[in-house]
Amino acid sequence: MPSNKPKFYLTTPVYYTNGLPHIGHTYSTIVCDTIRRYKRMRGYDVVMTTGTDEHGVNVERSAKKAGVPESEFVAKMAAEWRALWDELGVQGDEFIRTTDLKHAHTVQWLFKQCRDNGFVYPGHYTGQYCIYDNAYVDVKPGENCPDCGRPTETVTEANFYFKLSAFQKPLLDWYAKHPDFIQPEARRNEVLSFVEGGLRDLSITRTSVRWGIPVPGEEPHVFYVWFDALTAYLSAVGGPQYEKTGYWPADLHLVGKEIIRFHAVYWPAFLMAAGLPLPKQVWAHGWLLMDSAKMSKSLGNVVRPRPIVHVLGMDALRYYLLRETVFGQDGNFSYDALVQRYNSDLANGLGNLASRTAAMIEKNCGGKIPKPAVFQPQDTALATTAQEVIGEVLEQYDKLGFSLALEEIWSLIAATDKYLTTEHPWSLGESEPDQQRRATILWTTAEVLRIVTALTHPVLPESTTKVWSLLGQPDQPGSFPLDGLRWGQLAPAKPLGKSQALFPRIEKAEAIERMEAMEKEEQKQPSPVTATAAKPASAPAAGGAATAAAPAAAEKIGIEDFARVEMRVGQIKTAERIVGADKLLKLTVDIGTEIRQICAGIAQYYEPEKLIGRKVAVVVNLAPRKLRGVESNGMIIAASVGPEGRPVLAGFPDEDVEIGARLK
Ligand code: MSP
Repeated sequence: MPSNKPKFYLTTPVYYTNGLPHIGHTYSTIVCDTIRRYKRMRGYDVVMTTGTDEHGVNVERSAKKAGVPESEFVAKMAAEWRALWDELGVQGDEFIRTTDLKHAHTVQWLFKQCRDNGFVYPGHYTGQYCIYDNAYVDVKPGENCPDCGRPTETVTEANFYFKLSAFQKPLLDWYAKHPDFIQPEARRNEVLSFVEGGLRDLSITRTSVRWGIPVPGEEPHVFYVWFDALTAYLSAVGGPQYEKTGYWPADLHLVGKEIIRFHAVYWPAFLMAAGLPLPKQVWAHGWLLMDSAKMSKSLGNVVRPRPIVHVLGMDALRYYLLRETVFGQDGNFSYDALVQRYNSDLANGLGNLASRTAAMIEKNCGGKIPKPAVFQPQDTALATTAQEVIGEVLEQYDKLGFSLALEEIWSLIAATDKYLTTEHPWSLGESEPDQQRRATILWTTAEVLRIVTALTHPVLPESTTKVWSLLGQPDQPGSFPLDGLRWGQLAPAKPLGKSQALFPRIEKAEAIERMEAMEKEEQKQPSPVTATAAKPASAPAAGGAATAAAPAAAEKIGIEDFARVEMRVGQIKTAERIVGADKLLKLTVDIGTEIRQICAGIAQYYEPEKLIGRKVAVVVNLAPRKLRGVESNGMIIAASVGPEGRPVLAGFPDEDVEIGARLK
């Protein structure tokens, strides 16, 4: 049955699979899951996409290090990410992997649309590339990446350019017409001044990378990671057939602040070029800091989510992340503050209110929700506060103001604790008026608890489900329509449900010790991807360029694929060493039609002088690239022998073959 509810489509970033999730990644995902649950409760037909970004040099290298093919590496890592989100109660509807076939088709289709519309052209590019951020950066050779501080590499390659420069005005017009497109305000201003400063065309394919989605008919080009990754948002909801699912354009892309530019500039430009609808909003949150630095694997300051979930429960982590940091700003993580919040807000706050309310109803009202009698002004005052809190919390949630929303809810809990202290139902006697007064107080308290439970459900899905059933409420809190939440809906006479442990108090030092010990254990664990494959990833060939292959490197290829590689007999004319590159030789090779300069990684095994006049097999139709700053225009074929991959040049010892003859 097609739903007639309004649709809401939101996304987390797709995460790199060369590492495992830490609580920085967890933050993006938990926020998204909270919004997803909230929107459901507001009556939307919601789809949330999360997933993994699995291509690029980083994965190539990590897989090689693990000694497994890339496809095996990413499959295991993606499974780890998925399992963790399950443990955290994250209800992603779509889990997209950028190695999914449907995704590859969408990327290729999007490229074709952009190209057919005249926004793609071929070219060459040389620049400093940061393989960790998957981006060219504006620094000189030898300088580190300005964003992450790690070394950059000089890359020269043939590629296809996207005419980003053509979109300066359309993007500025779009931002002006849709002032809420980029949130928060500070990020919007940052993006605006970047675009106003002028846009340079963007290289969107690579020939120096093998592990990527092939550009059809243009191999060895593969798509640049961001053209590939951003498109995941569209592939998850139908790709070229997005109109059929009805979820595109996305309502919200939730991202960390360091990737706002890709989402707020590149992505809308790609979509405009392809003539597709643009997402409605991109929201950039801040970073979780550890010792004042962005948590990241390379700095070694990461905190993993599992130990926290194990010791305090998943709701505690969710609550802490959303309460402690103002959404959009950076926030410091500390175990101390985490346990402090857990004990004060969850154990002593919500947990205590739920258990004492249930215990009093159990003891005094036969375990059934009491029927209130006459309301006193102090009861109606609490009712008014609760009704106001409902409005304010919904307003804050709509603005993604999670910490303020939770603050409001906890002020209601505090007001209710105070109300109980002043009304002290436990000291009332057994007379009829006393019983009636007690029933009114306990009903009022239980009604606050019901409202608090419904309002906190998007943040605390596990514990609120327990409180909901404790209050004898039907179904799950997640199916309660928040639009209809009002004071006074708690029906009397309903029996209470089973009482379950919510947030047992915990001694701070002990909790921290346990979490830190588990964290250390986790760090000692071997990577989920260990070298189980029989053959290590292939050793580099002797020539300058990488071998051209589609992602499924292990698959068999047809003869037509082989025929695309043009190999010829060449004769080495000159050979010399390259200063500063002890593995490389610079050769000039006669291939029959021309003399080519080719670099070969054979310097440690062949004396340059002895190579002059030698006939070799050369791949002649590889795109040129620079190695150690020296242009290499082709590749010499060699066998890779022994564990260290010693190159042995392929040759023609039996016959004097003609220079330029084609190898078939
Ligand atoms: N693969 C790209 C995203 C492509 S989206 C089309 C990527 N992946 S990532 O794994 O590095 O990070 C994804 C998300 O995790 C980002 O939103 C990022 O901000 C978030 N976080 C990673 N470390 C973080 C913190 N320390 N704090 C908060 N979030 C951070 O980028």
